[in-house]
Amino acid sequence: TAAPDLAGRRVVISAGGTREAIDPVRFLGNHSSGKQGYALARTAAARGADVTLVAANVSLPDPAGARVVRVGSAVELAEAMEAERAGADAVVMSAAVADFRPVASAASKIKKSGAAPAPIELVENPDILAGLVASRDSERLEQTIVGFAAETDDVIANGRAKLARKGCDLLVVNQVGGGRAFGTEDNQAVVLGADGTAVDVPTGPKEDLADRIWDLVRRRLD
Ligand code: PMT
Repeated sequence: TAAPDLAGRRVVISAGGTREAIDPVRFLGNHSSGKQGYALARTAAARGADVTLVAANVSLPDPAGARVVRVGSAVELAEAMEAERAGADAVVMSAAVADFRPVASAASKIKKSGAAPAPIELVENPDILAGLVASRDSERLEQTIVGFAAETDDVIANGRAKLARKGCDLLVVNQVGGGRAFGTEDNQAVVLGADGTAVDVPTGPKEDLADRIWDLVRRRLD
């Protein structure tokens, strides 16, 4: 069993992928399975933390020892994260969040009409991670905030730019595309720190990456 080095710490983790309704039966979504976020929840609970897992459309068994809050869309995820982050020592955004949603969800199922299909008009979703950082800083909260980045190319350069833009403390940059990261059992990442550090985590089970992330979070909290 793991050393209880997160005992007395409260952590909030988002997992899965948001779904943005087009009509009552269709949505815009992504391929996140929730496995990386659930691995973060399991490992944190095993290390003694009080864990809240905010799950967006995940069909995995609840991790032992975690409280699970279920959400669907990015707006619901944003509301749940703002509510749950109060009093947390660390917040980790591993969910894959839709950057855009349809302006409106049709009240009834969109039918084929024979004419050209109507375009789906999109509006930008809130940036949840950047919002958590902004409200932490304006309220002077002591909280470590970790983001993820799903990048297909120029992984480190894009990761550094994203870290600066989002303002979080750590950014876990995993390469996606070509069957990597989304839905897999293994992951591999570089964890970038706002202080300029970079920790390489080689390919291994998602629990291993989760444990390395908690090591870095714990170092910041101590
Ligand atoms: O669930 P799995 O199948 O195990 O796959 C894991 C994963 C690949 C989904 C995960 O490891 C991962 O990379 N998650 C982040 C995916 C993502 O949305 O990356 P991004 O580069 O688009 O976003 C960067 C960060 O901002 C993320 O922390 C994201 O949660 C956050 N974000 C993004 C958009 C938005 N509107 N609000 C946000 O908070």
